[in-house]
Amino acid sequence: MQLAKRLNGIGEYYFSQKLREIDTMNKAGDNVINLGIGSPDLPPHPEVIKVLQEESAKPNVHAYQSYKGSPILRQAIADWYQNWYNVQLDADTEILPLIGSKEGIMHICMTYLNEGDQALVPNPGYPTYRSAVKLAGGECVDYALTEANNWQPDFEALEQLDLSKVKLMWVNYPQMPTGQLPDAAVFAKLIAFGKKHQILICHDNPYSFILNEEPVSLLAQPDAKDIVLELNSLSKSHNMAGWRVGMLCGAADRINEVLRFKSNMDSGMYLPLQLAAAKALQVDNSWYDTVNEEYKRRRELAYQLLDLCGCTYSKQQVGMFLWAKVPAEFENGFAFSDHFLYKAKVFLTPGGIFGSAGDGYCRISLCSSEARIKEAISRIETII
Ligand SMILES: Cc1ncc(COP(=O)(O)O)c(C=O)c1O
Repeated sequence: MQLAKRLNGIGEYYFSQKLREIDTMNKAGDNVINLGIGSPDLPPHPEVIKVLQEESAKPNVHAYQSYKGSPILRQAIADWYQNWYNVQLDADTEILPLIGSKEGIMHICMTYLNEGDQALVPNPGYPTYRSAVKLAGGECVDYALTEANNWQPDFEALEQLDLSKVKLMWVNYPQMPTGQLPDAAVFAKLIAFGKKHQILICHDNPYSFILNEEPVSLLAQPDAKDIVLELNSLSKSHNMAGWRVGMLCGAADRINEVLRFKSNMDSGMYLPLQLAAAKALQVDNSWYDTVNEEYKRRRELAYQLLDLCGCTYSKQQVGMFLWAKVPAEFENGFAFSDHFLYKAKVFLTPGGIFGSAGDGYCRISLCSSEARIKEAISRIETII
């Protein structure tokens, strides 16, 4: 069958391919320890599960739901943004619940990009920005994030670009995969840059609660709604990756524009799931603290593992990964990753999947138990 041209240059998602390989290895008895993927292994708060169970047992909750999501979930999102980020959002007009933020990335690209329009994407960065831009018919213009620049956008270099076709810019802090928080002035500079060039700044913010003392939203900047859309997600912050609950926040006009596309693609989420998600957003601070204590213990072990592999890294990172430079004896992160996969049956993500600027790096996820990370350490010890 002839494929649509829009799929040219879009391969199968790296992890979907690699997980198949790991699956084949496991079937052959390898029992690979996967420290690659950022899928939280811990459960959501028990109250969240309880709401899902109780609501699901009701007879009248199984119908199609509003395209704009349940007002209860939208209000919970508004309160969460107010409490944690000090951002005021109108629950009726400035919030759109999503089936995960990944779909929101696609919706935004489909809503704003015409054939040939350009979008600025971080290199290294989450690969979905790149594929969504291409699928929407747009072109990616990379902006490099480098260690020398503390993984922050270089605004002088951005100003040198021909920006006439650039319609939007993807940004993500805490940054994945580098684990960096934004430098003090970066958010204000992003708003000024967006306004000056009429570029919609799309901030993807799923990691602000993981190993991070102060969650920050780009929407907290003065007049941000004029030029910013922000995605957020319960996948990482509330251990609900498989539930598929995210959100888009921004000016009412922007939300309506994206809804125009999204309402033609999917329908509102299952109501009990939305009500349980609302509950998740209301949990008190102690829950985030407990989850982060666990991640801290795992992070100590991950440091040990990286040291053993000869990697170098910053300890100032936040989020659920560590980003590390691979030792010079390996040609790049892919060679490094394959070495440990085939020799020690431990999988670490090669940094190059996040863009060419990630070539010499690898990423380790903190989504495995301490016991599993310890087991990975002993396996690596045996091959070194
Ligand atoms: C930077 C970034 N944005 C978005 C997502 C997607 O999250 P969600 O589960 O909300 O679709 C991920 C998932 O790994 C991510 O790393």
